[in-house]
Formats: sequence, structure tokens, C-alpha cells
Amino acid sequence: MFLRHVFMLFFHVTLVASEDNSFIYNGFQSSHLYLDGIAELTTNGLLKLTNDTERDKGHGFYPNPIVFKNTSSESVSSFSTTFLFAIIPQYANIGGHGIVFVISPTKGLPDSLPSQYLGLFNDSNSGNSSNHVFGVELDTRQNFEFDDINDNHVGIDINDLKSADSTPAGYYDGYGQFKDLSLSSGYPMQVWIEYDGVKKKIDVTLAPMSVGASNKPTQPLLSLTKDLSSILNNRMYVGFSSSTGLMVASQYILGWSFKVNGQAQNLEISELPKLPAEKKKSKFLTVGLPLIFLSLVFMITLGVMYYVKLKKFDEVLEDWEHEYGPRRFKFKDLYSATKGFREKGLLGVGGFGRVYKGVIQSSKLEVAVKRVSHESRQGMREFVSEIVSIGRLRHRNLVQLHGYCRRKSELLLVYDYMPNGSLDNYLYNQPKVRLNWSQRFRIIKGVASGVVYLHEEWEKVVIHRDIKASNVLLDSGFNARLGDFGLSRLHDHGADPHTTHLAGTIGYLAPEHIRRGKATKFSDVFSFGAFLLEVVCGRRPIGRVGDNESLILVDSVFECWQRGEILEAKDVHLGTNYVSEEVELVLKLGLLCSHSEPLARPSMRQVVQYLERDTPLPDFSSLSLSSSGLTFGYQLFVEDRRMPYTSALIAESVLSGGR
Ligand SMILES: *[C@@H]1O[C@H](CO)[C@@H](O)[C@H](O)[C@H]1NC(C)=O
Ligand SMILES: *[C@@H]1O[C@H](CO)[C@@H](O)[C@H](O)[C@H]1NC(C)=O
Ligand SMILES: *[C@@H]1O[C@H](CO)[C@@H](O)[C@H](O)[C@H]1NC(C)=O
Ligand SMILES: *[C@@H]1O[C@H](CO)[C@@H](O)[C@H](O)[C@H]1NC(C)=O
Ligand SMILES: *[C@@H]1O[C@H](CO)[C@@H](O)[C@H](O)[C@H]1NC(C)=O
Ligand SMILES: *[C@@H]1O[C@H](CO)[C@@H](O)[C@H](O)[C@H]1NC(C)=O
Ligand SMILES: *[C@@H]1O[C@H](CO)[C@@H](O)[C@H](O)[C@H]1NC(C)=O
Repeated sequence: MFLRHVFMLFFHVTLVASEDNSFIYNGFQSSHLYLDGIAELTTNGLLKLTNDTERDKGHGFYPNPIVFKNTSSESVSSFSTTFLFAIIPQYANIGGHGIVFVISPTKGLPDSLPSQYLGLFNDSNSGNSSNHVFGVELDTRQNFEFDDINDNHVGIDINDLKSADSTPAGYYDGYGQFKDLSLSSGYPMQVWIEYDGVKKKIDVTLAPMSVGASNKPTQPLLSLTKDLSSILNNRMYVGFSSSTGLMVASQYILGWSFKVNGQAQNLEISELPKLPAEKKKSKFLTVGLPLIFLSLVFMITLGVMYYVKLKKFDEVLEDWEHEYGPRRFKFKDLYSATKGFREKGLLGVGGFGRVYKGVIQSSKLEVAVKRVSHESRQGMREFVSEIVSIGRLRHRNLVQLHGYCRRKSELLLVYDYMPNGSLDNYLYNQPKVRLNWSQRFRIIKGVASGVVYLHEEWEKVVIHRDIKASNVLLDSGFNARLGDFGLSRLHDHGADPHTTHLAGTIGYLAPEHIRRGKATKFSDVFSFGAFLLEVVCGRRPIGRVGDNESLILVDSVFECWQRGEILEAKDVHLGTNYVSEEVELVLKLGLLCSHSEPLARPSMRQVVQYLERDTPLPDFSSLSLSSSGLTFGYQLFVEDRRMPYTSALIAESVLSGGR
């Protein structure tokens, strides 16, 4: 007994009973769990099933099979398990996608999909009785495809993501009173799953960790009478599956105990590893990293000074590039223009790379130089020809591209310098300077006319793919200029074809764009709608409000409109100095552009006509009653772009439930 304690305290060693049919992990230090996907053990012994990687999955399984019956004709023995988990979403309370306790014929579930499939099944095998999979899901998203009741539920899954039974997350306290729990609150919670082999009954109980391991609620949260004998094989593997979607969360198991034919041993809460602390700025980032960086720079400078003098300005130039001659800059010139890309001249770090301020010596032209790393050489030619072609785009509301330079795996793009930075700096996070309504309205009209040019007025259609306030730059006269157009194509050329990464920014991506992975004029209009709302409301499309809540902007504007008080949605900092007809027009137009049905959105040409009041907005109240339903934004939020369009019903609602 003493020895056992020593072991548990210092090594957290698994205590394996004979037959390997029970085990306990008070933390997972030095455990031999089977892991796959993005699952990992943290240094302090947490089983971290997923991190912030989008649309991925992680599995953690007990390495040895468990005997649930000795012969196929026998019925399944009783079993009991308990574990503690925590789901820490990237944005408060919008995390994806949940954790499933699984009993499966295999270690891991190799053919499963992430997102709404929870790493459990794929789009062809969910519901197939040959799966032999039993699961208890802690699901933080609502997927209509699987008849999910809400975005915070516990369900029993038998061979199928459509739960055999499910219920909103919570527990019954000592007085039989139901208490809600939010699975993705970030707080640790304990789950007990018990199967009674005689009564053929499954009980699932949930409680916050603070209730305590020894105080398991007496009334289970969810009970189902079901004989598992035909579901479970003689020998099965037990473990956890978890997935992320477009919404991500760090999903952890803190401790786990399991037993066949008996009660799973109680976990020692005090011995469990601690969850990572709230994101505090680490000293490493503020002190360590710059130090390391400085010493690196110093060492590199010393080393480099000796022999690189010549190599320094090495660049790649291929025959075919001569035809683009005039638009090419010499690396040497950009190097001296930016004084060697020194940190002091860093203007920002964007989606594609770092941007430096510079002055071209010969012409005294002020420029912004963007350094984009480009891993694959493939597609470079197409890409460069595209760069050259977008270099010919000219419009007063677009940031002018002057040229490019190619060097090793790097591409440098030379743009006009915009002294007043990007628009988002004037909208949120307590900006130093706030814009008044007439400035905002002018910026909106400017961006709209830039997008019309891209869509309709140039020799070929250019889809921007990433319209948002942080891509709108302001020149010295506070005129809006859209940047980064055409650049998302770079992402396509360089990206690993096996990943399903979408270029674009969550909150601005149209549902059909996410579904099919294809950007269109319609999806640009959708992003433009999100942009309109963020400029009027002074908020990001998806963001935190307070500690516990996140806000989906289009959702809250829609609610205001439904109440007949759409002006309530505007930025409070606008004060009283605004033209209410214009504010109302832009808010309504923002909603219209956010329509989930691409064809119901206006074209950019129409958008400009509405903004200029050449055409009145369509009658709004009749739109909402149209048969397709004015389902705004992410109502249909299908994540897996491998899925054909026809099965697009399959949705996850980010909008539901007042988040
Ligand atoms: C998530 O974990 C995987 C595997 O450990 C790692 O490759 C990946 O970079 C991580 N992603 C993030 C966003 O931390
Ligand atoms: C299987 O048989 C062994 C040996 O007879 C017995 O100890 C064990 O409890 C049985 N397991 C189950 C699940 O019935
Ligand atoms: C789905 O999973 C099954 C295994 O359960 C596998 O045989 C099948 O190929 C998978 N289907 C797809 C489309 O990945
Ligand atoms: C169920 O899966 C098995 C094996 O993968 C397959 O042969 C069978 O066709 C599937 N049944 C259905 C209804 O999809
Ligand atoms: C808005 O701000 C600009 C610049 O500060 C100023 O010139 C303009 O008069 C203001 N407009 C209104 C309506 O206050
Ligand atoms: C905008 O840029 C102009 C020209 O560089 C400068 O004079 C002005 O101070 C800038 N305004 C803000 C708010 O940064
Ligand atoms: C956030 O949630 C915690 C725990 O549920 C609660 O104590 C706190 O008051 C909440 N804070 C806000 C700002 O709602």
C-alpha cells in the first residue's frame, strides 16, 4: 500500500490489474498511451487531444485491448469509467468540436474525419452497424446533419453520429435540481460512464470538478437502456477522440480510470496535472525571444560579414522572367531601401509575411516591401505572371503594386507606402484616433468602388478573397485603399494539396466558400458585408465581449433589426454626429450582403448604387420571409470541403444559441 502511494505520487504510474481490465491515470506522465493526429502529452502530463490547428483530429487510446466478453455468444460485462476533461476554446465559448469517449475495434479511428465527424466516423460509414463503435460525445457544436439538439450536449453514440440519446450538458445537484454546464467553458469537468451488464443500461453523469470525485451526483444526466452485446466485440480498445473545425479549442483529458466488472477507481483530483494558465504574456516572448533574436542577429552578422558580401544579393532570375523585366526590382535595391530589412522599419506582420517600410534610393519613392515566403517552386511562374498582371491594376482605391523581386524561396512585393496604416487600427481596441461617420462612410464607398473595379471593370475578373478592415489601408488623406488583392492565390499555389486550408479569414468567409473551397464574386460580397458591419459597429465579425461571451456581429445586428432598432447596433463611439439614414442603409446592406444564399446577395455594382442612393434598397421585411429563409451568415456552416455541394445541409451553426 505504501509502495503504491509512492508510485502514484512520484511517477503517476498506471496500476494495471491482472487481465489488464482496469487502469487508472492520475495524469498521463510517462504513460504509453497510443496517440495519433494532433494529440500529444504535455510535459506536465495532460493528454492534449487537439490544439489550435483547424480541421484536425486527435486520438488517445489505452494501448492494450480490453476484454469485454470471452466468447461472442456471451453478453458484455459491466464496465465503468471516469475521466476529467477541459475544453479551452480560442474564442470564449465558441470552440470546436468536442471530445468523445470511445470503445472501438481499433486503436485510433484512421478513416475518420475531423470537424463535425469528431474524429469518429466519416461521411460514408456513420450509421453503419458494422462499425462496432460505442461513444459518449461531449459535443460543443450543433450539426443539423446529425440531429444535434444544441451546441452544448452530451450524447450516447452507437455506430452513428446521430446520437441514440442526448441531453443538454449539466448535472443534478443534491436536491435534484438541474444545473447547466458549459462544456467549452474551459473549466475541468468530470464524467462517469457506467454500463450495467445485467440491466443492460448505460448511465452518463457529468459534474464540474469542484463538485469533487467522491461527490458524484446520484442522479445520472443521461440513461439509456441498450444491450451492448451486439455492438462490442470480445476485445476492444478504449480511448478518446476529438476534433477541431474552423472553430478550434485545446481539448484536454486530465485523468482517467477504467474497470471491467466493477467500479472504476476514484481519481485523485489533487494529483492531476494543472491546465495551462490563462494566456499571460510569457516572459519568454517579451524578454527571452528578443534576447535570443538579438544574439542570433549578432552572431549571424559576424558570420555573414566574412564571406557573404557577394552572396548577399543573390536572387533567382530565370529566362522566362525577362519578359517581365521592368517590374522586377533588384534585391540589392530593396535591401538598401529598407536599410537591410531592419526591425525598426517593420510596418506589420500580415497573413502572408512581414512588411517593411523603405525608400527607393533612385526615385525617392516611399514603399512598403512585403516579404512572402514561398515554399514550393511549383506554380511560381503562374504566380509571378499573376503578380505582374495585378501590377497593372490601377484604381484610386487599390494599393498600387510597383513590382516584385524573387530570391530563393522568397518573394518580395513592392507596394505604395500608406502613411496612416490599416483601418482596423481606427476601429477597435481603444484606438488613439477614432473615425467619425463621414470618414467611415467615405471609406466604405471607396472600398466598394475598388471591389467593383476588381470584379467588373478590369480586363479580367479579380476575386479579392480577403476583404476586411485590416486589409484596407489609409493614405495621407484618409482615403481607403484595398490591399493584398489577388494574393490569396499564392496560398493556393504554395499550399500542400492534401490540406484543406482555406485562404481567408474566419468571420468573413461565406458559407459556400467554406463548403466548396472556392472563392467567387459572391463570396467577396459576403466578406464586404462583414466589412460594412465592422466599420459601422466598430467590432470584429467574431470577437470577445467580456470574459465569458463571444459575439457574432451579423447575428447581433440581425437581432437589432428584428426588434426594429437596427441603429442600436452602431458603434457607440459615433456619438450623435451621424446621418441616421446612411448608418441604417449601411447596416441593412451589410445584412443583405451576409445572406447565406449567394444569389440573394447584391452584386458589387448594385452595392455601389445602393450606397450612392441611386437605387433604393429592396424591401427588407419581405426578404426575411422568403422561402429560403433569411438565414444570415453562418447558419449553414459546413466545414468539410471534401463534401460534395449536394450534401451541404450538413451544417454547423455558429449562430445558434446567443453566443
Ligand atoms: C498542433 O500539434 C501538432 C502536433 O503536435 C503540431 O504539428 C502543430 O503545429 C500544432 N498546431 C498548433 C497551432 O499549435
Ligand atoms: C473471461 O474469462 C476469465 C477466465 O475465466 C475470467 O477471469 C474473466 O472474468 C472473463 N472475462 C469476462 C469479460 O467475462
Ligand atoms: C470511411 O471509413 C471506412 C472504415 O470505417 C473506410 O472503409 C472507408 O473507406 C471510409 N470512407 C471514406 C470516404 O473515407
Ligand atoms: C457498412 O460497411 C460495410 C463494411 O465497410 C460495407 O460493406 C457495407 O456496404 C456498409 N453498409 C452500408 C449500408 O453502407
Ligand atoms: C470628421 O472628421 C474630419 C477629420 O477630423 C473632419 O474634417 C470632419 O469635419 C468631420 N466630420 C464631421 C461631420 O464631424
Ligand atoms: C496620416 O498621415 C498624414 C501624412 O503622413 C499625417 O500627417 C497624419 O498625422 C496621419 N494621421 C494619423 C491619425 O496618423
Ligand atoms: C464569467 O463566468 C464566471 C463563472 O461562470 C462568473 O463567475 C463571472 O461572473 C462571469 N463574468 C462575466 C463578466 O459574466
